[in-house]
Amino acid sequence: MSDAADLLTADDSPAGAFALDLASVEVSAKTFLGLAQPSCLTDTLRLRLTDQCYLPKGQAPMQDWVARVACPAFLAYRHAHPEAAAVLKRFCTIGTGAGLDALAAAEVLKPAVIAITDLHRAVVDQAMANILANLKRPDSVILRSGVGDLLTPFDGSGLRFDLIYENLPNIPLPADVSLDDGQASSSFIAPRGEAIPPLARDYLLDLHIAFLLQARRCLSPGGAVLCSIGGRLPLRAMLRSFAAVDYRAEILLYSWKIQSEAEEVIGGYAEAQTRGHGPFHFYLAEDLDAAFAGAAPIRSTREALALESALASKRIDPASALKLHRAGRTIGHTAAVIEGRPAAVG
Ligand SMILES: C[S@@+](CC[C@H](N)C(=O)[O-])C[C@H]1O[C@@H](n2cnc3c(N)ncnc32)[C@H](O)[C@@H]1O
Repeated sequence: MSDAADLLTADDSPAGAFALDLASVEVSAKTFLGLAQPSCLTDTLRLRLTDQCYLPKGQAPMQDWVARVACPAFLAYRHAHPEAAAVLKRFCTIGTGAGLDALAAAEVLKPAVIAITDLHRAVVDQAMANILANLKRPDSVILRSGVGDLLTPFDGSGLRFDLIYENLPNIPLPADVSLDDGQASSSFIAPRGEAIPPLARDYLLDLHIAFLLQARRCLSPGGAVLCSIGGRLPLRAMLRSFAAVDYRAEILLYSWKIQSEAEEVIGGYAEAQTRGHGPFHFYLAEDLDAAFAGAAPIRSTREALALESALASKRIDPASALKLHRAGRTIGHTAAVIEGRPAAVG
């Protein structure tokens, strides 16, 4: 068995992160991630966080992207593609934050190689340390990491992935905020230079589309992307946006979560809508709870579209959602994980 530490390149080696004043979060691998019998992960996941790191919602799993969306999506992928999942070797997550999504993938998909990226050096270094610290056998996985925009850290590496996951932000960066401020890069995006199809631009999918354009050259033959997208826009707009950049797309998972960072995120969508984007929508968490209650995980495009349409009368526009949030109501949103594959050329 290879020793992961021997395989770390200079760029992969956690450096300096240990000197920072770190906060930490502890969650149970079983109950937080909903995994019956974790075999690769330590029972308690201890994650240390740097200032710019997206905060896992350890005390509030209903708000957490990995608990509510990423981990269920990896289970859905394994369920939908048992043969591909059994031979999945190289997994990558873009914008890993604390590294919790990589840990969930390590448990559910058991890839030989896990690659992570994020925008800030300290975040990536700490995510590497978090992954190594929470695997029962850190030498069972080869870890690679890169710092920078989307997949560009791996440009020239020759790395090709069987599965690439992303849960990237959507909201345009306000003029008075920098992506280096605190957790700003988890919610906001700077303007992009790529040609973004108009529908995707209208619905603020710019960063997901920029990712798809890059991912095309980083996938192994038969490889797929999993894009985790907050469902504040119609599902058909997501699917059409993928088609506009020549990806075949299916909904792998349709879930919901309580809106985290509610003031900033709902306010960001309200602002974007006044500038002509959208329209966007949210829901009362109690309506989502009732609509999804008792149902098995929604794991197909057909079921997701049917549930979205059943929820149509419960939609709340961003300005009203912000008022309700400020009045103490709990606001939620749906989330879709789109499985995309580059359409065959020619
Ligand atoms: C919503 S957070 C998700 C974090 C983690 N994947 C999770 O699900 O808990 C989005 C992450 O994407 C990162 N990010 C934003 N823009 C990025 C970009 N252009 N390239 C790489 N990562 C980016 C952020 O820094 C942040 O860690």
